[in-house]
Amino acid sequence: MDNDVWTVGRLLAWTTDWLAARGSESPRLEAEVLLAHARRCQRIELYTAFETTVDEAQRSSFRALVKRRGEGEPVAYLVGSREFFSLPFSVNNSVLVPRPETEGLVVRVLDICRSMLAPRIIDVGTGSGAIAVTLATQLPQAKICATDISAAAIVVAQSNAERHGVADRITFLTCDVLDDPQAEGPWDVIVSNPPYVREDEFDALPRDVRLHEPRSALVSGPSGCEMIVRLAAIAVERLVSGGWLIMEVGPARAAEEAIVQQPSLWLGPTLTDIAGHPRIVQARLN
Ligand SMILES: C[S@@+](CC[C@H](N)C(=O)[O-])C[C@H]1O[C@@H](n2cnc3c(N)ncnc32)[C@H](O)[C@@H]1O
Repeated sequence: MDNDVWTVGRLLAWTTDWLAARGSESPRLEAEVLLAHARRCQRIELYTAFETTVDEAQRSSFRALVKRRGEGEPVAYLVGSREFFSLPFSVNNSVLVPRPETEGLVVRVLDICRSMLAPRIIDVGTGSGAIAVTLATQLPQAKICATDISAAAIVVAQSNAERHGVADRITFLTCDVLDDPQAEGPWDVIVSNPPYVREDEFDALPRDVRLHEPRSALVSGPSGCEMIVRLAAIAVERLVSGGWLIMEVGPARAAEEAIVQQPSLWLGPTLTDIAGHPRIVQARLN
């Protein structure tokens, strides 16, 4: 960028082209989010400021963000936040950026809990806390627990619970799956968006994901089903009779097979995500 007059409109147009040339799928949106962050304003405020000159300090901070985005860093990490279920969630590179598909998982759990007075729910692999915190905001009577093997992720999840005023209603545990006495249950719902990428698939993931999001949030092991198989086995011991195991998965078939290996689990219909892919596998304890 040269030293001519750089207005909001001109910066957005230039950056949109630059990000598009580097493979961004939504270059205009990303340019707007980054510029709003650099100017410490709401994105919508840019629309009434197209002719406003951006000062050098803000341009310098914007340039640095755009450069990092061009190198593949996810926008959510650059601005430290991502919206999930219409709530802002703080994120950093210790946690997976919450995905819109996962909102479907939350909706399904809310449907299940609608008839329960005080549902007991555990979110396994909570990451940013997107699932557990959202459920806590929607279900004021629920008893919620959230686990993650990553202590750094639990710090982020706790900060999001505080941000949304539900920290006193969620027990956060740093542990392997449900391997903590406080995670014993019994639970009405075990919900999880576990890692489900096979080790040999990792190199084929999009660059932004592969280079920037935590590998342990993505890769499960050689089969991709390791954590799903463990969850199906644990669900049998930790759910109440009639309780639900609800998981977001990649290939649904393998998760469905893991469930049918457990004779006391009933395999419900797999739900599709907003893109029409089989995504939410559900099982119920007899
Ligand atoms: C796909 S991310 C999901 C994060 C968040 N629930 C979401 O939907 O955005 C999977 C999470 O599981 C955690 N995880 C991986 N292995 C685990 C294990 N053995 N026990 C508990 N959590 C685990 C990762 O640290 C990561 O935060």
